[in-house]
Amino acid sequence: MSSAIEAITWQNEKIVLLDQTQIPISENYISYDEISPLVLAIQQLVVRGAPALGVAGAYGVVLAIDEAKRKGLSAQELELNIDLLRDARPTAVNLAWAVEKIRKHLPAGRDAVLAAAHQLAREDKESSISMGNIGADWLIKKLGNNSLTLLTHCNTGSLATTGTGTALGVIKELHKRGYVKEVYADETRPLLQGSRLTAWELMKSEIPYRIEPDGAAAMAILSGRIDAALIGADRIAKNGDSANKIGSLSVALACHEAGIPFLVVAPESTVDRTISSGSDIHIEIRADEELTYFKGIQVAPLGAKTFNPAFDVTPAKYISAVITENQSYEIAEGQTL
Ligand code: MRU
Repeated sequence: MSSAIEAITWQNEKIVLLDQTQIPISENYISYDEISPLVLAIQQLVVRGAPALGVAGAYGVVLAIDEAKRKGLSAQELELNIDLLRDARPTAVNLAWAVEKIRKHLPAGRDAVLAAAHQLAREDKESSISMGNIGADWLIKKLGNNSLTLLTHCNTGSLATTGTGTALGVIKELHKRGYVKEVYADETRPLLQGSRLTAWELMKSEIPYRIEPDGAAAMAILSGRIDAALIGADRIAKNGDSANKIGSLSVALACHEAGIPFLVVAPESTVDRTISSGSDIHIEIRADEELTYFKGIQVAPLGAKTFNPAFDVTPAKYISAVITENQSYEIAEGQTL
């Protein structure tokens, strides 16, 4: 294994995932050669982040073919397994997008499917570089300040992609150019993708950072500590409304009030032009236990009801720009991506 963070690789005819539920305590890799454990791994966030889910879905189609051959499954059973994979999590469009894109290669045979999955993974990696450059150029032009304090929410780095990342990729590029003073990483309740994963990546990249509870973000922004916020996305509607990790909307509202840039950074594969606005985005609702227990310890009255959406939708009017690998979109009212 190289020293670079590799959230997902294809090795010896298996998918190898860096188990993100264990970071930063340990770096364990788990191999998958069947669909149902892979679906469970996606649901339990062993692999997570929209672009990484897309790559897992792409290689997952190869696993489905190999498993069907080993077990003598019918063509219909193979298609059903691919459906299960596509539907493992509903909000990040990249998963369904990648599975359907790769599924189209089935008639050309298993090796053609694997080649298409490799190609998709390569393109994902390359898109990080373009997003990093376009996003860094945009912010430098806008702020003209070489000592930026940036805020980010959830994890959008190498753990969430096959490259440097989306929003975190822009932050890494700004750091490389000498523009970053410090990064505020929101803790990201309830599964702590910020304090466990983003902080770990920032530490590895030697970028100065601090973590804050999600509830401190608005105060940090309105008290003038933050120059700009950058987040990723799980699905972006045609009008620019963007779904991302729960808590992103609060960050956007605070940035709007403070008059500072709020950037959404995501590959074109996250843009879902089949839906006109954010109200069409299916938001995943997760289990009560993520809130009522913490590391196996009960932290709420037994039977407490919860509201535990994994994502929220930021209306386009609060987004200064959407950065993709192709361009920056500043979406005026009534315009589309
Ligand atoms: O539930 P998760 O951890 O999969 O949520 C991830 C996010 O919300 C990310 O910000 C998004 O997928 C973009 S990752 C580049």
